[in-house]
Amino acid sequence: MRLLSKVTVGLFTAALLFVGCGNDAKPTAQESVKPTISEESLGLRKTDIYVETDETIGHQANYSTAVAGSGNTIKRAFQDAPPMVPHDTEGMLPITISDNQCTTCHMPEVAESMGATPVPSSHFTDFRPVTSVNAEGRLTKNGKAIVNTTNVNMDDISIKSTGDQLAGSRFNCTLCHAPQSGDDIAVKNTFEPDFTNKDGASASSWNGTKLMEGLDTVNGI
Ligand code: HEC
Ligand code: HEC
Repeated sequence: MRLLSKVTVGLFTAALLFVGCGNDAKPTAQESVKPTISEESLGLRKTDIYVETDETIGHQANYSTAVAGSGNTIKRAFQDAPPMVPHDTEGMLPITISDNQCTTCHMPEVAESMGATPVPSSHFTDFRPVTSVNAEGRLTKNGKAIVNTTNVNMDDISIKSTGDQLAGSRFNCTLCHAPQSGDDIAVKNTFEPDFTNKDGASASSWNGTKLMEGLDTVNGI
């Protein structure tokens, strides 16, 4: 009985809507199929997408061939963004456990004499908690059993200095520092950064207590 009355109300509403629609001016068939966006304008490719002719030329990345030490740097994208690699990386990649040439010029003890920016203090900091499984089989972080891995308090994060050893998570430099292709790029970035530091476009401010701003965490430094 209940179900029946729901169906009746439903039908009644549908009928009202139908009457309502009837009063609106409907687009003509021609208007509703009028293309407003061409297929060619959708992608990076601006040529006929059904034909492969010589006029379709792929975008060629144009990486810097300036040798490291020629002095050009690239403005940072935003405050404390990883700087882009301004020099040639020919012969330096891939980085392997036994061959990381980036460190031969960028480690703080050599950087000055090489004229390179030293690897900052954040790269000598371990943000990962000590993780293990306790006697009850529970995952623990910094000795605390984790009930919910999406813990929003962030109290299972820790900050520990790694001394003069690079933190393992920073070893593979090009995970974050990409070589930059020249001005001739496929899509221009129109983002306007609002630097919080005066020299934000050329230097990182992320060190000392700044590393812990806004984090309710264990400070092991
Ligand atoms: C032969 C020494 C040398 C090696 C090897 C080297 N670099 Fe550099 N790097 C420099 C110098 C010098 C600069 C400063 C700009 C310049 O003169 O090229 C620099 C600049 C940079 C910058 C920009 C820093 C800033 O403040 O904007 C980044 C990022 C960078 N290098 C990353 C790397 C990575 C990643 C590798 C390994 C793939 C690497 N470098 C290998 C010497 C080196
Ligand atoms: C997980 C990402 C990541 C990895 C891996 C990484 N970096 Fe960085 N790097 C950053 C970020 C983010 C910044 C800017 C904020 C900061 O200083 O921590 C930065 C900053 C820098 C700077 C500029 C420091 C300054 O004072 O302006 C240099 C130079 C640098 N990194 C070199 C390296 C080298 C060399 C490696 C490899 C040994 C490396 N980084 C690995 C993310 C990374």
